[in-house]
Amino acid sequence: MLKANIAIFASGQGSNALNLIHHFESHPEIHVQFVLSNKSDAKVLEEAKKLGVQTFSFSNAEVENGEFITQFCIDQHIDFIVLAGYLRKIPVGLIAQFPNHIFNIHPALLPKFGGAGMYGKHVHEAVLANQEKETGITIHLVNEDFDSGEKIAQFHCDLGENETIETIQQKVQALEHAYFPLVIEETILKARNV
Ligand code: GRF
Repeated sequence: MLKANIAIFASGQGSNALNLIHHFESHPEIHVQFVLSNKSDAKVLEEAKKLGVQTFSFSNAEVENGEFITQFCIDQHIDFIVLAGYLRKIPVGLIAQFPNHIFNIHPALLPKFGGAGMYGKHVHEAVLANQEKETGITIHLVNEDFDSGEKIAQFHCDLGENETIETIQQKVQALEHAYFPLVIEETILKARNV
């Protein structure tokens, strides 16, 4: 059986993207075909290249052009797309071509603290301001609206009295690094075996 090819889309540091690359390095059924960014100077591209993974950067106009990005993914034989800190909207054409095959990770317990503008530190700031007793991560399918596709998995962490944005970020990132690759692996393997 051919391996499932995944594309990782990332805009920033890419700690999750790199963690996924390491996880699938010598996986018998799943292959990271490329990392794509809408920022040509994104650190993730440089680091992924060092790990021997193909990288591509496209302008915002290109990644938001459904026909262009869909054809690109078809030409690259992509089966699944994983958004790992990717901040642009996914065009409807791409969602239509890959129904239930595009995954995102969000650094909070959706539906809380999701939607437009809720990314990076803004999420943890809102969690702190709201005096939440817990937060966590949500891994979900991508649809036309930000952070509202069907949930695949959530993981929680407790918050104490003296949290800061940085301590919340550390707790959330630890969950992301521990669980994101495992959930993506399990979801892809299940989808291939139905
Ligand atoms: C993560 O917190 C992820 O949940 C969110 O964007 C952040 C990306 O971090 N979607 P990194 O670039 O993977 O370090």
